[in-house]
Amino acid sequence: MIPPRPSGTDITIRMERPEDREAVFAVTREAFGSDFEAKLVDGLRKTSAFIPELSLVATVGGVVAGYILFIRLVILNGPAEYPALGLAPLAVAPPWQSRGIGTALVLAGLAAGERCGHHLVFVTGRPQYYGRFGFLPARARGFEIAFPVPDDSFMVRELVPGAMRGIGGLVKHPIIFNS
Ligand SMILES: CC(C)(COP(=O)(O)OP(=O)(O)OC[C@H]1O[C@@H](n2cnc3c(N)ncnc32)[C@H](O)[C@@H]1OP(=O)(O)O)[C@@H](O)C(=O)NCCC(=O)NCCS
Repeated sequence: MIPPRPSGTDITIRMERPEDREAVFAVTREAFGSDFEAKLVDGLRKTSAFIPELSLVATVGGVVAGYILFIRLVILNGPAEYPALGLAPLAVAPPWQSRGIGTALVLAGLAAGERCGHHLVFVTGRPQYYGRFGFLPARARGFEIAFPVPDDSFMVRELVPGAMRGIGGLVKHPIIFNS
């Protein structure tokens, strides 16, 4: 069960701690209405794609209300490989949605990704939501993905200006995404 709605209004974004895991699972399950994404996060934790510095929680009054994870991806182009990040998933507990928590998590995550030296982030999701953060259709920019995703849902954003230049190819997700 997700914790009861806390009374405070101050949103804090910080790295996830081991003791947050149960709350992260609950928030992710409640946000998506099934435990698929929550189990995916737990599966990703065991892979080299998981980046602890980019596994962030939003707390309100000290209680976990939202979660975002950026994982390591690889762009394959013939013999060339380029590193990238993938945003997956973003979840805000239903009682806390539409209060800016998702926005705060995305902005903090993008800034943390840049600080950690990453250049490019991919996401598959709703363009109406991610467009506001500067994500753009990825296929039109020479990227492909191994899943059947509509053109406007497969998006990319530079963390470093010019990072997309000269790079294109197949965005490879960890094998766990195929299960
Ligand atoms: C999508 C989600 C992360 C947004 O977080 P949030 O804290 O509710 O969002 P914010 O308060 O930062 O932003 C609110 C805005 O996002 C819009 N929004 C919320 N959920 C949306 C969705 N699923 N698709 C498109 N827009 C959405 C709201 O209409 C609102 O728009 P406005 O600013 O023009 O009024 C959250 O609603 C959620 O966890 N949803 C279920 C899980 C999910 O779908 N995650 C992946 C998204 S692709």
